[in-house]
Amino acid sequence: MTADRYPAGHVFYRRLGRAYPRIVRGEGCWLIDADGKRYLDAAGGAFVANLGHTNPDIATALERQARQFGYVSATAFTHEPVEALAAELVATLPGDLDKLYFLSSGSEAVEAALKLARQYWVERGLPAKHRIIALAPSYHGNTLLALSASAREHYQAPFREWLVDVHRIAAPYPYRCPCRGEDSRCAVCGGAALEAAIHELGAEHVAAFTGASTPRPDYFRRIREICDRHQVLFIADEILVGAGRTGTWWAIEPYGAVPDLMTIGKGIAAGYAPMSAVAAPRRIVDVIARGSGDFLHAQTFSHHAVACAAGLAAVRHLKQHHLVERCAALAPLFARRLSALTELPHVGDVRGRGLLAGVEFVEDKATRAPFARAARFAETFVDAAQAAGLVVWPNVGHADGENGDLAMLAPPFIISEPEIDELVTRFRQALEATLGTVPVAAR
Ligand SMILES: Cc1ncc(COP(=O)(O)O)c(C=O)c1O
Repeated sequence: MTADRYPAGHVFYRRLGRAYPRIVRGEGCWLIDADGKRYLDAAGGAFVANLGHTNPDIATALERQARQFGYVSATAFTHEPVEALAAELVATLPGDLDKLYFLSSGSEAVEAALKLARQYWVERGLPAKHRIIALAPSYHGNTLLALSASAREHYQAPFREWLVDVHRIAAPYPYRCPCRGEDSRCAVCGGAALEAAIHELGAEHVAAFTGASTPRPDYFRRIREICDRHQVLFIADEILVGAGRTGTWWAIEPYGAVPDLMTIGKGIAAGYAPMSAVAAPRRIVDVIARGSGDFLHAQTFSHHAVACAAGLAAVRHLKQHHLVERCAALAPLFARRLSALTELPHVGDVRGRGLLAGVEFVEDKATRAPFARAARFAETFVDAAQAAGLVVWPNVGHADGENGDLAMLAPPFIISEPEIDELVTRFRQALEATLGTVPVAAR
């Protein structure tokens, strides 16, 4: 087997004890490594490769832009790819979100959105508004402000002294909430927990509320009302769920609520270039335009021409080939095929929307008790899936911040029906292999 492993070579990898197969080419939804092994990419890597790995339109756009020019500083110049990409995206965005600030990673976009919210209040003459309220469980990125907003104890622990104090409220989580997401009077599922938190902190101190989850249909309308009542900016983090993944351009669309700021990333350039953005309305950006005149978040690679050219080609491809509609159309079949997994041992819940799904593993299906973290169930499963030629994404800490294992699926929008069947077959094989290796004591 040709695999790279630390400390051979000159790269140090995220996971230092693991061997990394070397990918040499893609083929639609598939990746092929140096040994010729084929992997069905059922997660788009990390919710990114929404158009598969060999999109010719994006390849052509990247080459064309690189031949024209590669880089100009966004402090000095603008260019066609950024102007056109912003216009294409604004046509899909909800409400008055019609200004875009482009960056590279999701963490940067979250960082920038929170800083924009803070600078807005400072320049509006309300500098005491600095507190952030965020949901738990949630993940918003790994830079320090985004990490502060993330409910990820194990990522935060070594950096605790460097993080800011973000107030956390429970996220609506039907599988684990006693009301099962069915009671609009439930403080968590109905949104009242946000109002209680604002009262506790004092509305005069609260700058922004941020979160992402799959709540009750009335949840975001209530969040919108509460934020309006207390002058709190509502930031929707659509980095993972946006760009068509759930069968609508933006996951918040069916909820009929418009956030004040939105962060987008991952799938917007389909992974052919790192690309993220903050979407904002004029009423927010104008305050800074009329005040200091400078948004205090300069980054060398913001509004990058080649990245924007990839994003433009990706968004146009999605539109021309009606792939968001395809994602919605495939959703019932995808859900039906995945629902068969609930019969398997330790599969507690299968949920999702569009071509995004989460499979929650539990120690005990009747009580919904999670595996102990020490079992590293999600990670073991993902490794077993990779061995079975299937790429899935692990998520942990869902039950209580520490325990709770999830395998997430987010195949490219071009996935075929036979490939969905193949996905399910390989998923079963991976679960069988995992149950053979997770120590019995930990189960
Ligand atoms: C909802 C959400 N926000 C922010 C981020 C951070 O994005 P990135 O890893 O590109 O910095 C992620 C990454 O998984 C995410 O899922």
